[in-house]
Amino acid sequence: MSDTQLWSDSTDYMEGLLAPADPVLDAVQQAADDAGLPRISLDPLQARMLQILAGAIGARRILEVGTLAGYSGIHLARALPADGRLVTLEIDDLHADVALANFGRAGLAGRVELRRGAALDSMAALEAEGCEPFDMAFIDADKLNNVNYLNWAVAHSRPGALIVIDNVVRGGQVATGSDEDPSVAGTRAALRMAAEDGRLEATVLQTVGRKNFDGLCFIRVRSGQ
Ligand code: SAH
Ligand code: DHB
Ligand code: MG
Repeated sequence: MSDTQLWSDSTDYMEGLLAPADPVLDAVQQAADDAGLPRISLDPLQARMLQILAGAIGARRILEVGTLAGYSGIHLARALPADGRLVTLEIDDLHADVALANFGRAGLAGRVELRRGAALDSMAALEAEGCEPFDMAFIDADKLNNVNYLNWAVAHSRPGALIVIDNVVRGGQVATGSDEDPSVAGTRAALRMAAEDGRLEATVLQTVGRKNFDGLCFIRVRSGQ
């Protein structure tokens, strides 16, 4: 059996056990497909991992960069207390429209603040408004800007906060590809910062799914020093 067949069968098995059908998430995915959005959300097992981590750290304020249809955001928002907040940033108006409807479908509209526009502009606006620090951030937008997003997230995190970056392996291209690929260069820059910045401790979890090899970077903002 090929490796990809094994990965696919194993994903089916694990999802069947641990990410069973959820009518809300099915409707959310259907709305994304109907609107023609790309199928680049976190996979169900990974989205559940973010939900579990957000719950485990007792996150009350979460930042997400790159909303798409709200699939990962719904998982993050489900982990929040009723008065918690997910601030999620999206540049594409169609994606934002679909996501808003999806947060409503999931009964989470009251916990989610979706900001339209380029994430760096939204970050500047949040800073100007004097936003409270975040407990967790999930970075999953244009990879070219990953180090800028990481810098902002670190500066606006509470000590001990968790920051997660998606797509840090890219089929191995981040290790072996060319810096001329802006996604590779941007991801490398963020990984270097995660490794070298004394305020941070970090690791990468490499993942396989139905047909892809990728990974997530987990970063903790050190506390108490
Ligand atoms: N986190 C989502 C998937 C995000 S896909 C999930 O797992 O469900 C990446 C998203 O980032 C796309 O919707 C894209 O429009 C958005 N994006 C790309 N560049 C951006 C930018 N500069 N600012 C904000 N959002 C951006
Ligand atoms: C792409 C973006 C993502 O965030 C992802 O998880 C997978 C693919 C993309 O732009 O192709
Ligand atoms: Mg991604």
